[in-house]
Amino acid sequence: MSPVVLAVGTIGHGELSSDQFREASRCSTCHGIIHSQWDGSMHSNAYIDPFYQKELQVASEDTEGSIDEFCLRCHTPIGVTSGEAPGGELSEVSREGVQCDICHSVSGNAGIGSASAPFILSPGNVQRGPLKESKSTYHETRYSKLHTKSEFCGMCHYVNNSNGVLVDDTYKVWKNSSYSAEGTQCQDCHMSPGVTSFESNPGRSASGAPKRDHISLHYFEGANAFVTDILDEETHRRRAIERLKKAAAMNIKSPSNASENEYVGLEVLVTNSGAGHKIPTGVSEIRQMWLEVSVTDDNGKQIYHAGNIDKQGDIKPGIQVFNTVLGDGNGNPTMKFWNAESILSDDRIPPKETVVQKHNFSIPEGVEYPVYVNVKLQYRSAPQDVIDDLFGKGTHEVPVINMAEKSSRINDPDAPPGEPSMPGFGANILILMFSVLIIVHYRKYR
Ligand code: HEC
Ligand code: HEC
Ligand code: HEC
Ligand code: HEC
Ligand code: HEC
Repeated sequence: MSPVVLAVGTIGHGELSSDQFREASRCSTCHGIIHSQWDGSMHSNAYIDPFYQKELQVASEDTEGSIDEFCLRCHTPIGVTSGEAPGGELSEVSREGVQCDICHSVSGNAGIGSASAPFILSPGNVQRGPLKESKSTYHETRYSKLHTKSEFCGMCHYVNNSNGVLVDDTYKVWKNSSYSAEGTQCQDCHMSPGVTSFESNPGRSASGAPKRDHISLHYFEGANAFVTDILDEETHRRRAIERLKKAAAMNIKSPSNASENEYVGLEVLVTNSGAGHKIPTGVSEIRQMWLEVSVTDDNGKQIYHAGNIDKQGDIKPGIQVFNTVLGDGNGNPTMKFWNAESILSDDRIPPKETVVQKHNFSIPEGVEYPVYVNVKLQYRSAPQDVIDDLFGKGTHEVPVINMAEKSSRINDPDAPPGEPSMPGFGANILILMFSVLIIVHYRKYR
């Protein structure tokens, strides 16, 4: 039984030939800027991605190869529709993963959710895109409304496994969010400089083409600072980190005073302020987002520490990780999403929503005030032990990205009033005002 369920009208395995598609280098002569943005993106690396390749191998061994076509359909659509994959020798254009000519040959959507990757393809001389009046001597052009809508992305960013478990719900969550209601598409945040909303990018889409108010960006960065690092894609790695830093807002609620031996309850509020889907999204059973909370006294003595990473690279147990946990046939947690039969838990943060995480600790005797609270929202693309199992221990360290950081302090309630033990808030404001004055002065009389 093939796990690939195809929608009526879509193109199946081996129905096309790879020479019906042109390599990205053929487009770069005229679309040089767009090409340089796409080149190095996770789309351009969707097939060669070493993490994907390792997971594919595990999935393939697990299912005696029956899953391969399903996985490959999104990661090398030309490979599968040309019949080169699975099993055969892949041409250059198939190895380019999600590339120019495949995306711009999409001529329809056969129904997201009805089947796997329901794109309808019409390869040939017509390039379909967002421009209503555009002319090229190299190819024909055709306006495609689909390319300007989330449905275009949703055909691949919505993954139902063969048991019918929705393992990637990015499109669906967006569809049910206020972003969709307001008309904000994936393209507005992922193909414009705005990151969390639309911002125009004036320019030319091809050499010699007219100047336009907006040309879409093709970096397609998400949150992947791990594989982009392995593949030395520095621009895309940096952009992923910048994007992660714009996704969430954080606040701490802690008492301003607490005496020795007093029990302190700390609340950390995390809001998904910038993403049109849950954070994290995509293969969210593999991604990890969590809070690291550190409390120290004025001598730097650790009072409380949660969410730190131990020597093995594991997150210290006991903290909630904001991701999904999938269940296998016996209801046990599994990261093998192709086998999953249920979703055991989903602790991700929906768009515009806030979650509260509580931490409790007590102020030890003999503490040196003030007590400092530091909270970091951390993200990494995969748990270290998963990567160690796949690649061998010591091969790749998964980078931890700091998405947001906040600090607060707790003072001695018995300290005489007006005599803070450190330059307090007031003093900080004064220092800040002084520096502002100095800067203004410098600017004026330079
Ligand atoms: C993942 C699919 C995808 C890939 C890969 C892709 N594009 Fe696009 N491209 C789009 C979408 C979607 C739009 C329209 C976005 C919008 O509405 O802002 C677009 C827009 C364009 C445009 C119109 C310019 C404009 O004003 O925005 C050109 C030209 C273009 N792409 C060329 C290319 C070339 C060349 C490549 C390869 C180097 C490429 N694309 C790769 C999806 C893709
Ligand atoms: C000889 C130069 C040249 C080459 C090579 C070329 N294009 Fe274009 N393309 C253009 C020009 C010029 C336009 C019109 C741009 C405009 O009006 O702003 C264009 C427009 C487009 C559009 C916009 C269509 C629309 O209606 O929105 C897409 C998509 C596109 N090209 C994709 C590609 C892809 C994919 C390749 C490689 C297979 C490619 N082009 C190769 C010159 C070229
Ligand atoms: C033909 C299928 C396909 C289409 C259409 C598609 N994508 Fe993707 N996209 C993928 C695959 C596969 C990956 C994962 C590649 C990898 O990590 O190996 C990916 C990765 C990404 C990433 C990077 C994720 C990360 O973790 O960094 C972003 C962002 C993204 N896509 C956005 C979009 C947007 C926006 C659109 C619509 C304009 C779109 N994609 C259309 C298949 C597709
Ligand atoms: C309001 C802006 C916004 C919209 C709309 C939006 N995104 Fe995102 N996207 C973000 C931000 C910010 C991040 C980084 C935080 C994160 O990883 O979730 C992100 C991350 C991602 C990632 C990487 C996820 C991960 O954690 O590995 C993918 C894939 C992605 N987006 C795809 C999409 C698709 C597909 C759509 C449309 C269905 C979409 N996005 C709509 C802002 C947006
Ligand atoms: C319907 C399209 C689709 C299918 C089918 C699919 N994927 Fe993906 N895959 C994606 C998209 C989109 C992403 C990007 C989401 C993200 O970054 O979190 C992705 C990301 C991944 C990643 C993360 C890569 C990285 O660099 O972090 C792995 C691993 C992966 N897929 C493996 C597989 C395997 C194995 C299968 C088959 C069991 C499979 N995929 C089937 C669309 C698909």
